[in-house]
Amino acid sequence: MSEIRIVSIRKIKIGSVVQCDIYSKDGALILKKGNIMTQVALARLESMGVTRVLVEAGTVELVDDTPEPSHYDTTDLPKDNIDKYSEKFVLKKEFEQGKQALLDKDIDGSQDVAKSIAGKLLDTGSVKRELEELKYGTEGVVTHSLNVSVLAGAIAIENGFPKNVVEELVIGGMLHDIGKLYIDPAVLNKKGRLDDREYTIMKTHAEEGYKKLCDNKGVSQNVRLMAFQHHENNDGTGYPKGLKGDQILFESRIIHIVDVYEAMTAKRCYKDSLLPGDVMEFVMGRYSTMFDVKAMDMFLKTIPAYKKGDLVRLSDGTRAQVLESNPKNSLRPLIVLLDTMKVVDLYTDRSFLSKTVTELISKEGEVVKTQ
Ligand SMILES: [Fe+2]
Repeated sequence: MSEIRIVSIRKIKIGSVVQCDIYSKDGALILKKGNIMTQVALARLESMGVTRVLVEAGTVELVDDTPEPSHYDTTDLPKDNIDKYSEKFVLKKEFEQGKQALLDKDIDGSQDVAKSIAGKLLDTGSVKRELEELKYGTEGVVTHSLNVSVLAGAIAIENGFPKNVVEELVIGGMLHDIGKLYIDPAVLNKKGRLDDREYTIMKTHAEEGYKKLCDNKGVSQNVRLMAFQHHENNDGTGYPKGLKGDQILFESRIIHIVDVYEAMTAKRCYKDSLLPGDVMEFVMGRYSTMFDVKAMDMFLKTIPAYKKGDLVRLSDGTRAQVLESNPKNSLRPLIVLLDTMKVVDLYTDRSFLSKTVTELISKEGEVVKTQ
């Protein structure tokens, strides 16, 4: 049995489990019982004058509650997955070609497509706009890999990496899970939780992918290492080698964050997608344990939890649309309230400090006009 304690919020361990609902002075629910304390949640509590809370001691195990993007349909993905992409999405053609190359296990072809993606991202002038067009609502190892490649490339560009590193990260994103295409389909496509034996098989995909990439002379060693190391955790609790910190290639640390983020955000056959803010809190709650701090800062600078155009519900039930993501705090974007058309900056507006985004709602039938 874990120990329950009243703790000053200054002493709270990130990752502790909250043991009671926490409300603001005006009665708004800030954090629900059972939630994991994250740095963002702590900052929010502090700003609202909360000084002590009830928590369960200890930290959360990292491996088992991390959704492994394991259940991939490698046979025939629904055709309309690609068609859902907006016509504005400049990478639409590359996504179609990349999907085919990966399904064919064609490493050279995948590399060519990745280079074309990197070139277009570098040319486009607005990587963030492309991210807005990137949809996570699709299934499959190939779509996951393509999403990861674009996200990794975007991080590299936004943080001023040289062109060759941008290209390597896009290729690494595309090929990081190539080993999964060699896993027994009965395990790979299993619906529901994997048992220990199956999980052990699934974990071999990192090393398997590395070996396949080593067989191809045209693949760089860094790209091979991204496949090999993308499940290594900063604190040494990952696999296959249990490497720590600087032992892990920096590019692999970026792929690791993006891989987990994409897997959690995507809607797959076996689960609904999670709220981007919750995913962001999950990722941020693993600052320095699972993920590298520097890579995390680069990720947060690039990937907004809520993107322009997202429809959301706030904790008081109000519906709103995101007008602009916030580079300083991804969870507090600029929004417009749909009932009154009032524009609110969740980051600076003090009367909204206690309100959080609790739901991403459907776009059907919603038209927003702003001045
Ligand atoms: Fe993986």
